[in-house]
Amino acid sequence: MEEKIAREGRALFYIPISSSYIRKDGKIEPSWMPVFYNPYSAINRDMTILGLRAYQKMGERTRTFVEPLSGICVRSIRVLLETLSDDIFAYASDIDSLAIDYCRRNAELNNAQTRLFSERSDARLFMLKLDSDQVPVDSVDIDPYGSPIYYFDSAIKSIGKRAFVSLTATDLGALTGRYGDTALRRYGARIYETQFSKEVGARVLIGSFVRAASYLEREVEPLFVFYREHFIKALFRVERSKSGSVNAAKRLGFLCINEEGALTSAIPLGDVPEGGCKKMVGPLWIGKMWNRDFVLLMKEESIAHDGILPETSAAISSIMGEMDIEALGYYRVDEICSSLKVNVPRFQKLIEALKQMGYSASRTHFDRKGIRTNAPISDVKRAILSSSGKS
Ligand SMILES: C[S@@+](CC[C@H](N)C(=O)[O-])C[C@H]1O[C@@H](n2cnc3c(N)ncnc32)[C@H](O)[C@@H]1O
Repeated sequence: MEEKIAREGRALFYIPISSSYIRKDGKIEPSWMPVFYNPYSAINRDMTILGLRAYQKMGERTRTFVEPLSGICVRSIRVLLETLSDDIFAYASDIDSLAIDYCRRNAELNNAQTRLFSERSDARLFMLKLDSDQVPVDSVDIDPYGSPIYYFDSAIKSIGKRAFVSLTATDLGALTGRYGDTALRRYGARIYETQFSKEVGARVLIGSFVRAASYLEREVEPLFVFYREHFIKALFRVERSKSGSVNAAKRLGFLCINEEGALTSAIPLGDVPEGGCKKMVGPLWIGKMWNRDFVLLMKEESIAHDGILPETSAAISSIMGEMDIEALGYYRVDEICSSLKVNVPRFQKLIEALKQMGYSASRTHFDRKGIRTNAPISDVKRAILSSSGKS
């Protein structure tokens, strides 16, 4: 098989190369390759590196990194070379034996073979075996095709007292409500398409992880969430705690949607919505999605570390703009403008108008046509009209 050596961050790695998996537009099509490597997920791997560096900066222990769906081990090798601990050890598995051959050769290429253990295995069995072998699992990265939900149970069981967990989901059709029945059977959640569907997807993913952790008596704290065209990534701190798991479960609930499709309130599980709802979306996570200190540390590390893509750092800056605004969901400015029959104003002007009215406002990384603000819809409409010169 013809190969080339590629680079991502500080890692070098062999990848098979053939014209048969180059698309017409000249780009690699990962699903046509004999082993999995997706160059468009470099930003996702950057986030794992920055998340782990931020976690380490918080004084948390990371002796081990577990990647049970490893492909050719680019992520694991990057963790060994690019995080802040010299004695971190990686455990990787993949169901595909060719991928594991590549893992081993790639570890040698980076002189990391003594710190990377890799094995052909089903991801669930691999994680449960780490638990029964009493390997201290301090961090886990679940990056499957589609939904990570099938791996929640074994991942949570494998971790020790406290761990860093990264989840990636690519089943965005289900999570954002396009395939409502799939969402219902997979996540046990009713998801209707809304203006802020991408955030709903992130909250359903977090909520389903919190539920799985809760019955295993683990408290989950979301640290960071990120949406990109083809995936949602969420980072968490997970800790063994019966009372903590109850506290986390108290931040599960529903979003109340009115006749116009706008979000009116968040209803914790068991509460009754005042004034009724036209539709209720959930159950999902209604708590904070970002830990401020953690995101600031990720940003610092994106500057301190030279292996990070500029777009990764830019994405974190964008999240910093919205993370402090106390508002669930966001407004799609184009949709509101079309209902008002006005042109879309410049976003900066609209944000200024909302701030002058006394609200917080920012763009949202979830949707480039979206705006996050604590203003009610009536005032968002007023601000749109004034910033497009109609009032
Ligand atoms: C999205 S890729 C992972 C990419 C990798 N984490 C990275 O950052 O490049 C998913 C991988 O999971 C593997 N896989 C699929 N089902 C599996 C299972 N049940 N157990 C272990 N690996 C599995 C596939 O062979 C594939 O390499």
